[in-house]
Amino acid sequence: MKKVGNHNSISRKIFFSLALALTFSLTSLSQNATPAAPAADSASAPAAPAATGGGDAVAGKALFNANCAACHALDKKMTGPALRGVSARHTKEWLYSWVANSSAMIKAGDATAVKLFNENNKAVMTAFPQLSKQDIDNIIAYTDEKKPEPVAAVGVTPDGKGGQVKEDGISNNVILGALSLVMLMLVIMLFFVNNVLTKVAKANGIEVADKEPGLPIWKAFAKNQFLVLVTSIFLLLASGYFVYGWMMQVGVDQDYEPIQPIHYSHRIHAGSNGIDCKYCHSAARVSKNAGIPSLNVCMNCHKNISEVSDTTATPEHSKAFYDGEIKKLYDAVGWDGTKYTGKTKPVKWVRIHNLPDFAYFNHSQHVTVAGIECQKCHGPVQTYEIQKQFAPLTMGWCIKCHRETDVKMEGNAYYTKIHEELSKKYGVDKLTAAQMGGLECGKCHY
Ligand code: HEC
Ligand code: HEC
Ligand code: HEC
Ligand code: HEC
Ligand code: HEC
Ligand code: HEC
Repeated sequence: MKKVGNHNSISRKIFFSLALALTFSLTSLSQNATPAAPAADSASAPAAPAATGGGDAVAGKALFNANCAACHALDKKMTGPALRGVSARHTKEWLYSWVANSSAMIKAGDATAVKLFNENNKAVMTAFPQLSKQDIDNIIAYTDEKKPEPVAAVGVTPDGKGGQVKEDGISNNVILGALSLVMLMLVIMLFFVNNVLTKVAKANGIEVADKEPGLPIWKAFAKNQFLVLVTSIFLLLASGYFVYGWMMQVGVDQDYEPIQPIHYSHRIHAGSNGIDCKYCHSAARVSKNAGIPSLNVCMNCHKNISEVSDTTATPEHSKAFYDGEIKKLYDAVGWDGTKYTGKTKPVKWVRIHNLPDFAYFNHSQHVTVAGIECQKCHGPVQTYEIQKQFAPLTMGWCIKCHRETDVKMEGNAYYTKIHEELSKKYGVDKLTAAQMGGLECGKCHY
C-alpha cells in the first residue's frame, strides 16, 4: 500500500518559506523611501499663461505682488487707488511712463497725473524704471482680469503639499496591504489543494496518514540543522541591516518639518507671488548665514496686506485661517491696522537646518561664488506650504556635490591663476570643487 503521509508537512514547509520570503521583501521595501529627485524647476512651472491684450497675467501677478502690492490692491483703495481695470482709465503709453516715473510726469505738469496726485493726498508712488514695457503689459493683463467668483475650492489640491498624496507614489501601507492579501490567498489556496489531494488520495484508496502524531513544527524545525543555520544567518543579517540603518540616521533630520509660531507659507510668498528668496534671506548672498528676516521686512508689505485674496484659500487652509495668521504677525509687531502700539511679542521661529558645531558651511561661498540655486540644496521651496529640511546635510552629501560640481571660473579673476595651475596638474579643462580642495578636512572642520 502506498502511503502519502508527507504532503501535509511539505505544505507546511512551503508555507514557512513563503512567510520568510515575505518578511524579507517587506524589510527591504520599508527602507526604500528615497526622497523624490529635486524637481525645482518643473514644480515651479506656472500654469499656462492666461494672456490678455499681449500680457501674461500669471507673470503679471507675480510682478504686481512683488512690486505694487505694498500700495495697491485690485479692488480696494490703499495708499494708491484700486487698480482693477486701470487700463480703461489711461492709454498704454501714459501707463508706461507713469509706472516708470510718476513724479517726473507730475513735475512736467501732465494734467491727469497732477489730478491723480492731488486726489491721493499727494502720496508719492515709487518709480519703477527697471520694469520693461513687457513687464508693465503683464501687470496690466493681471489688473484686467475679471474679479473671480469666490469659489468653494473643491478637490483642487494646490501644487504645495499636494493634498494627501505622498510624493514617492504608492505608499508603503498600500504595498503592505497588497502583500498581506496575496499571502492570505496563498494560504487559502494551500488549504484547498490540501483538501483536494486528500480527497483524491481517499478516492484512490490510498491511506492518508491523517493525524500522524508527528513532531510539532518548531521541534521539526529545531531538528533540521540546515534550516536553523539559514534562519540564524538571515536574522543576523536582517538585524545588522536595521542597526546600521538606525545608526546612519542618528543626527540626520531630513524632512524635519516643525510647526512654526506663524503659519508662513513659502508656496504663497515665493511661489504664487514670486517674491525673490533673497528679498527676505538677503544675508545668503554676503555672509555665512542666510538668516531669517526680521518682522520689519514682513511689514514692508503687510502694513497694507491684511488679508489674502479669495483664490489663495485651499481645501486645507481657508481664507479665514490665512487672515488669522496675518493677524498673528500684527500682534507680534504691535500693529493695530494704522499705527504701531509699541506692544511687541517676538516670534520664535523654530530652526530647521542645523549643522553640528564642528562643521563649517558658508552660504555666500555657494550662492554668490559658486552660483548655486537655493533649490539645489533646499528643494522646491516655492512649493512648500510648510518649510522643511530637504537635504540630509550629511558629510557624504556635501562631498558628493563637491565631486560632481564644476567650479564656475568665468568672470572670476580670483580663480584664473589657480585654475591654470590646477588644471595643468589634473590635466582637465574644468575643475570640480573637490579638485580645488573641497575635500580637505580643514575646509569644513574647524
Ligand atoms: C509706494 C507706494 C506705491 C507703489 C509701490 C506703487 N504705487 Fe502706483 N500709485 C501710488 C499712489 C499713491 C498713486 C496715486 C497717485 C499719486 O499719489 O501719485 C498711484 C497710482 C497708480 C496708477 C494710476 C491709478 C489710477 O487710478 O489712475 C497706476 C496705474 C499705478 N499706480 C500703477 C502701479 C504699478 C503698476 C505699480 C507696481 C509696479 C505701482 N503702482 C506701485 C502708490 C504706489
Ligand atoms: C517673504 C519672506 C521670505 C521669502 C521671500 C522666502 N523666505 Fe524662506 N523663510 C522665511 C521665514 C519667515 C522663515 C522662517 C519660518 C519657516 O521656517 O517657515 C523662512 C525659512 C526658510 C528656510 C528654513 C530655515 C531654517 O530654519 O533652517 C529655508 C531653507 C528657506 N526659508 C529658504 C527659502 C528659499 C529657497 C526661498 C526662495 C524660493 C525663500 N526662503 C523665500 C521668509 C521668506
Ligand atoms: C513682498 C511682499 C511681502 C513680504 C515681504 C511678506 N509678505 Fe506675507 N504676504 C504677501 C502677500 C501678497 C500675501 C497674500 C497672498 C495672496 O493673497 O495670494 C501674503 C500673505 C501672508 C500670510 C497669509 C498666507 C500664509 O502664508 O499663511 C501670512 C501669514 C504672511 N503673509 C506672513 C508674512 C510674514 C511672517 C512675512 C515676513 C517674514 C511676510 N509675510 C512677508 C506679501 C508679502
Ligand atoms: C550648497 C547648498 C546650499 C545652498 C545653495 C543654499 N543653502 Fe541654505 N543652507 C544650507 C545648509 C547646509 C544650511 C545649514 C547651515 C547651518 O546649520 O550652519 C542652510 C541653512 C539655511 C537657512 C537657515 C539658517 C541660516 O541662517 O543659515 C536658510 C534660511 C537658508 N539656508 C536659506 C537659503 C537661501 C535663501 C538660499 C539661496 C539664496 C540658500 N539657502 C542656498 C545649504 C545651502
Ligand atoms: C550643490 C552642490 C554643493 C553642496 C551640496 C555643497 N557644496 Fe560646498 N561647494 C560647492 C562648490 C561648487 C564649491 C566651489 C565654490 C568656489 O567656487 O569656490 C564649494 C566650495 C565649498 C567650500 C570651499 C572650498 C575651498 O576650496 O575653498 C567649503 C568649505 C564648502 N564648500 C563646504 C560645504 C559644506 C560643509 C557642505 C555641506 C553642508 C557643502 N559645501 C555642500 C558645491 C556644493
Ligand atoms: C565638504 C565638507 C566636508 C569635508 C571636506 C569633510 N567633512 Fe567631515 N563632516 C562634514 C559635515 C557637514 C559633517 C556633519 C554631518 C552630520 O551631521 O551628519 C561632518 C562630520 C564628520 C565627522 C563626524 C561623524 C559623522 O559622520 O557625523 C567626522 C569624524 C568627520 N566629519 C571627519 C572628516 C575628515 C577626517 C575629513 C577629511 C578627510 C572630513 N571630515 C572632511 C563636512 C565635511
